[in-house]
Amino acid sequence: MSFTNKVVMITGAGRPNGIGAGIARCFTEAGARVVITDLEGSPLSETVDSIDGEVWPLVADAADQASMRQAVAATIKEHGRLDVLVNNAGIGGPTLGFDEVEEQSPTLAMSDEAWDQQLVSNLRTTFSSASAAAPSLSDGGSIVNIASIAALGPTTQLPAYGAAKAGVVHFTKTLAIQLAPKIRVNCICPGLLWTRAWEMLGARMQAADPVYANMTPRQVFEAFVAQATPLGGEQTPEDIGNLAAFYASDKARMITGQVVAVDGGISLS
Ligand SMILES: NC(=O)c1ccc[n+]([C@@H]2O[C@H](COP(=O)([O-])OP(=O)(O)OC[C@H]3O[C@@H](n4cnc5c(N)ncnc54)[C@H](O)[C@@H]3O)[C@@H](O)[C@H]2O)c1
Repeated sequence: MSFTNKVVMITGAGRPNGIGAGIARCFTEAGARVVITDLEGSPLSETVDSIDGEVWPLVADAADQASMRQAVAATIKEHGRLDVLVNNAGIGGPTLGFDEVEEQSPTLAMSDEAWDQQLVSNLRTTFSSASAAAPSLSDGGSIVNIASIAALGPTTQLPAYGAAKAGVVHFTKTLAIQLAPKIRVNCICPGLLWTRAWEMLGARMQAADPVYANMTPRQVFEAFVAQATPLGGEQTPEDIGNLAAFYASDKARMITGQVVAVDGGISLS
């Protein structure tokens, strides 16, 4: 796969250990120029420093069409084109309203605001960024949406997150039809990765569940991975990035509207 002379934008790629940074590494290794966006500037520049290759940071809100239009315009001005958009921005788990979740009925215990915040962060991001970028994507271009295994079945602990990611899967298919034949649209459902999202989730589970009380957040994560993953072992950001690059490459020229879990088999059971 070669992305020489191609320009790729990845949203929510502001953390050096995040999935977005791993995706960026896979594209730069294949010769792409990569624009990474996030809500804040400082982790973005740290991420740029951690990646070999041509990477440019841009502060932009992926859930805001106007902000993303500005980011797309700045990219076209600087690099002359945009070939691939990876919708990676998202907040993996309940943040606002976290403490409101009750054991018996977590879905109904959420506030309207907590529910909305999850849908904005995990679903509207995909819509707003795709809407802003699609008119500028080059012919033969590609959109890759990052959903989650939480999209593939009931998620009692992360109900709004699961619903939002299921929306990303559905929206992928609609968009694939609407943007054909010019642009292909595909989706990846990552499984379990040790990023900031799981650092937070592991800490919460350690605090909330006596089973995990004597573990560090990392040990909570490892216990989860061991129990859930048929292939054994956690997934890495590059595991996700390799499929993103394949989807966006000419080798996948007849693939659109598809959803693949990169999860070591977790979603099989
Ligand atoms: N870590 C996992 O196990 C896992 C599993 C399945 C899916 N995912 C998904 O992968 C994606 C990347 O997550 P990650 O694990 O690397 O977490 P992360 O927290 O390291 O990265 C997500 C980034 O998205 C950014 N972001 C959030 N809302 C944004 C917005 N409106 N505009 C711009 N940036 C925004 C955050 O600032 C953050 O830097 C997310 O969509 C997440 O839901 C993660």
